Amino acid sequence: MARYAIRLTELTKDYPTGFWRPRPVRALDQVSLDVEPGEVLGYLGPNGSGKTTTLKLLMQLIYPTSGRAEILGRPAGDIEAKRRLGYLPELPYFYDNLTAEELLVYFGGLFGLAPAVARTRASTLLDRVGIGAERRRRLRRYSKGMLQRVGIAQALVNDPEVVFLDEPMSGLDPVGRRDTRELIQSLRGEGRTVFFSSHILSDAEALCTRVAIMVKGRLVSTGRLADLAFEVQGWELVVSGGERGDLAGLGLDAVTTTVSDGRHVIELPFDRPPDQVLPELSRLRFQVVSLTPRHESLEDYFMRLVASRQEPAA
Ligand SMILES: Nc1ncnc2c1ncn2[C@@H]1O[C@H](COP(=O)(O)OP(=O)(O)OP(=O)(O)O)[C@@H](O)[C@H]1O
Ligand SMILES: [Mg+2]
Repeated sequence: MARYAIRLTELTKDYPTGFWRPRPVRALDQVSLDVEPGEVLGYLGPNGSGKTTTLKLLMQLIYPTSGRAEILGRPAGDIEAKRRLGYLPELPYFYDNLTAEELLVYFGGLFGLAPAVARTRASTLLDRVGIGAERRRRLRRYSKGMLQRVGIAQALVNDPEVVFLDEPMSGLDPVGRRDTRELIQSLRGEGRTVFFSSHILSDAEALCTRVAIMVKGRLVSTGRLADLAFEVQGWELVVSGGERGDLAGLGLDAVTTTVSDGRHVIELPFDRPPDQVLPELSRLRFQVVSLTPRHESLEDYFMRLVASRQEPAA
């Protein structure tokens, strides 16, 4: 068995540009990254940071300028590796005259599944992604979120060991996002390796064993999300009981919202840490319902990294 499920070695991609811009665009710059079997890796970065380019190189839909991409110990594009991987493209496009069921049976056939096996697998997978009743409806009549779900089912049709998902949550409503998160979690439970891209930090929280953060074609950090230096910007404190008027006395009025069931949501700024206000609140007979740190968003983190990179050397 290969030591790494996915291995990128100094992977670099320049896109040629048109006549008026003779200088090629460097979409990916010397990216090296190893993903172990069974990991769920969140490949995070803002728009244009090179996520889709990386996935296309891994699928060998495009070729690198230099460097290597390997899957299960074999070079990208290798037939044996392709049989063992699944891929959800960024903008999945299907033959929209087919039904979801027909599409999956068709893809199953491409992987050499016998028709009866393909039909059973199609039905199981469509249930799994929440396309039950609509499986015999033509894809033309599917919503974006439904197509996204069919795309995920399609990526699993060959029971892959390694699953690549390019922005699997895009176009999904909150329920769809939660379902997709749970699905990725179950893939992890089954021991599959998952490599998914996103530009939204919360997609990666509580889901990834590790994240890799891309900025402008470069890998700027990898690690467990909890270990990366996301700055705490403040806290959200929810309390109940007590008198709202007493909060004004603590100078918290401006940052408090009272919600319907007698709860007060207090947005504590960074310079007002909870341990300063909790004793006071307790004295005024407020009870703490919850306390959550507010971290900077992935976008803020990127901005900070980008800004720090642009600072002139001391
Ligand atoms: N076919 C192409 N020709 C020229 N430049 C391209 C091509 N595809 C991508 N690029 C450029 O390469 C860079 C990386 O693009 P890529 O699509 O990989 O980003 P991404 O991280 O997937 O972004 P998004 O979050 O918007 O999907 C961008 O600057 C983009 O403009
Ligand atoms: Mg993309």
